[in-house]
Amino acid sequence: MTQSSPQSFPRACIIGFPARHSRSPLIHRFWLREHGIAGDYDIAEVSPDDFPAFIRNLAAGGRVGANVTVPHKEAAFRLVDEATDTARALGAVNTLWFENGRLWGDNTDVAGFLANLDAGAPGWQEATPVATVLGAGGAARAVVYGLLARGVGRVVIVNRTLARAQALVDHFEGLSGGRIEAADWDGLARLLPDTALLVNTTSLGMHGQPPLPVDPDPMPDGAVVTDAVYVPLETPLLVAARRRGLRTVGGLGMLLHQAASGFARWFGVMPVVSQALQDHVVADLQEAAKGGKA
Ligand code: ATR
Repeated sequence: MTQSSPQSFPRACIIGFPARHSRSPLIHRFWLREHGIAGDYDIAEVSPDDFPAFIRNLAAGGRVGANVTVPHKEAAFRLVDEATDTARALGAVNTLWFENGRLWGDNTDVAGFLANLDAGAPGWQEATPVATVLGAGGAARAVVYGLLARGVGRVVIVNRTLARAQALVDHFEGLSGGRIEAADWDGLARLLPDTALLVNTTSLGMHGQPPLPVDPDPMPDGAVVTDAVYVPLETPLLVAARRRGLRTVGGLGMLLHQAASGFARWFGVMPVVSQALQDHVVADLQEAAKGGKA
């Protein structure tokens, strides 16, 4: 666990278990340098047993806030004093900060997902009567909430374990007005010809994982395909979609965009997700891939 004496400059961290391969320090340190801010952002690998005490001591440990990742997002939600509407809707928190001595929690994965789509496929929303989301874990929860919040007319959650997809449908029942439904993998072939936006939130297609068994060919012209996986940067799903002439949006942007509002809360400046930042993180991913650590 990373814990040190209070220091005069603002410090944040990412708390996870494991967390040592997180790219978040790379992102926040880039922005700190860019804005000439004397601050820091590091990694705190904290076990679930130690997590509540770590959170209670966050300020005493010299931190102005933190990001929270797997497996702590739900526990963080239970530990905060105040939560944003988005965090409450998801029951999960990925960004912590202090306001008037109270610990606040937000879930910026939603804004990260939407900002990445807005940047990579402008106008996607107007052209999306039906969105299909692959997977039903924490990432899918943020994606589904974002799609519903943006008014997508029909969201279908496709998951290997149908009961998990159904649980997500039930979770958002009050919010969705009947706009979401669950399906299993066998139902996907029937859905694709109507799917204007396909989102992969499963780990399939990630380096070292099995491939994602989805062929985007039957999707309609003008459809958009996006993948939360960013190692590799261009997943086989995105390659196939591009070959089919569809618009594609890679997953790295979701990571970069979700980081921005945390930085603003801790360090007082809203940073920009620039090409220079992307190049910086991509160079690191490529370096890690060479060493077999991506
Ligand atoms: P996260 O919080 O990152 O979304 P997660 O909760 O572990 O991660 O969810 C991973 C998703 O990938 C799940 O939807 C999972 O399907 P199950 O709910 O059936 O487990 C999906 N997934 C992982 N490995 C898979 C595989 N080999 N085939 C199909 N789906 C898989």
